[in-house]
Amino acid sequence: MPDRPPIVELIGVSRAYGSRHALDGIDLALHPGELTLLVGPSGAGKTTLLKLINREIRPTAGEVWVAGIAAHRLKASHVAELRRRVGVVFQDYKLLPRLTALENVAFGLQVGDLRISDAEARDRALDALEAVGLGDRGRAFPHQLSGGQQQRIAIARAVVVQPPLLIADEPTGNLDQETAWEIMDLFEDIAAWGTAVLVATHNVEIVTRLKRRVVTLVDGRLVRDQPAGQTGRMAWLASS
Ligand SMILES: Nc1ncnc2c1ncn2[C@@H]1O[C@H](COP(=O)(O)OP(=O)(O)O)[C@@H](O)[C@H]1O
Ligand SMILES: [Mg+2]
Repeated sequence: MPDRPPIVELIGVSRAYGSRHALDGIDLALHPGELTLLVGPSGAGKTTLLKLINREIRPTAGEVWVAGIAAHRLKASHVAELRRRVGVVFQDYKLLPRLTALENVAFGLQVGDLRISDAEARDRALDALEAVGLGDRGRAFPHQLSGGQQQRIAIARAVVVQPPLLIADEPTGNLDQETAWEIMDLFEDIAAWGTAVLVATHNVEIVTRLKRRVVTLVDGRLVRDQPAGQTGRMAWLASS
């Protein structure tokens, strides 16, 4: 989709922790409707890259543009503007245990200064739950749901504001392979709605079979950017 402006653009991005370079000279653009897999060995810099996009941290050098916002120089007081445009999904779901599934999703609408009524929040949360196939589990608490269902709730929470970008850090890391595929199917649906989706993953089977764009980090450097349509490769694995 080269004719559509990127939703994320990293230009010469480096990030150090003290003297350690977690990311080094990264150039990367992500487009609407594109599902991209971010791979690389542990410590390669995947989580750091996602945190830069979400403005949890800022780069030591370079520029991070997200939906037209300069995340690299965004002040903490303006982070909410960015967060409304970025849905985030984690390996361990991070649902609030004392809230129902519906309340967890509605909570996603309270990010920033969105002013919507309780009734509208409920309606929109229910729509999001239906979109992830859990329209009938809104009253359940997280501990009453399977891991795969909890991750679906977390995805509903992330997309309820209809962000142009969804980022996920090892979202299938706690799930069995069959459930992992269900979650990846959901990410493909979300990308098909026009959202840019970036998923950091270690799951070799998913990377190999999904045939989506695969961006590989090794030691903080982007060593390979494989377009969609090819059999995915974990480029740093000697056997692949
Ligand atoms: N908060 C931190 N303080 C110091 N070093 C960190 C911190 N977070 C990450 N690192 C280092 O940065 C590198 C990249 O880490 P990370 O982005 O978590 O990689 P990945 O997600 O690919 O496993 C690693 O060497 C890691 O030890
Ligand atoms: Mg990580």
